[in-house]
Amino acid sequence: MNRGKVLAVHSYKGGTGKSVVSTNLAAIFSRKGKDVCLIDLDLRAPSLHKVFNGEGGKFRVNDFLDGRCEPGDIIFDASKMLGTPGRLLAILADPSMGAIREAISKDRGREMIALRRLISLNEYLQREMGVNYIIIDTSPGMSYSSINSVAVADLVLVLTTWDASDLSGSKEMIGELYHVLEKKATVLMNKVPAKLLTGSWRERTIKRLTKTLALPVIELIPCYCDVLAQERSTIMTLEMPEHPFSRSLFRVAEHLEKE
Ligand SMILES: Nc1ncnc2c1ncn2[C@@H]1O[C@H](COP(=O)(O)OP(=O)(O)O)[C@@H](O)[C@H]1O
Ligand SMILES: [Mg+2]
Repeated sequence: MNRGKVLAVHSYKGGTGKSVVSTNLAAIFSRKGKDVCLIDLDLRAPSLHKVFNGEGGKFRVNDFLDGRCEPGDIIFDASKMLGTPGRLLAILADPSMGAIREAISKDRGREMIALRRLISLNEYLQREMGVNYIIIDTSPGMSYSSINSVAVADLVLVLTTWDASDLSGSKEMIGELYHVLEKKATVLMNKVPAKLLTGSWRERTIKRLTKTLALPVIELIPCYCDVLAQERSTIMTLEMPEHPFSRSLFRVAEHLEKE
């Protein structure tokens, strides 16, 4: 079997940029002709449905994880809409309050069933659909569903900001979760204050971050008002490939390809 790679985009805190980064990485790989599946597994705060303007099938990933449908029922092919040469498949989550409440209240037993279903979904995507990359946009922190996403990943891209509580939480999470599961992980620092990137500050920032998290740091991305101002449906690497935010993500993708 020509096995694809499963990448979990994770962080300790919410709002670090997981959804934006996951979407753009999926777009970059499919722009390069790879077949990609982007999965919204942040069932507590779904957002990828906004990227695809409410498109998608009748069923959501929640239905699949709870055994209410088959993998084919939740996959939406967004390649035509986005004009990418490789397939960009999307699996969206249910943003309704009822679904969010249900996701939050899931106990460990049901999360174990969801984990088995997630493993079978990944196998289906790789074996039946020939997907090269599965990119999982995860829930932040250490909820059962985040742990499931990290557990099935070959590689974790952990996003952090310069915020002190984010950094200390990320450090603990890396020790408690990635090390225990023996996961290969790499760090992207997002929304970095411009000052920390000028002159010798850049080196110092990378040094401090590498020392604190004890993981390789692959990119520092500044805070750009342009990014904040975009609609959710704007995929910057497709629509503004020359923007420095896009260029950073092209470098991240290149790095991940080599992992
Ligand atoms: N480098 C950046 N500069 C400015 N805004 C950013 C940057 N990265 C992400 N954002 C914005 O931050 C917000 C949260 O990003 P999002 O991807 O939804 O985070 P998460 O999925 O981790 O909760 C979004 O409005 C997004 O556009
Ligand atoms: Mg998100």
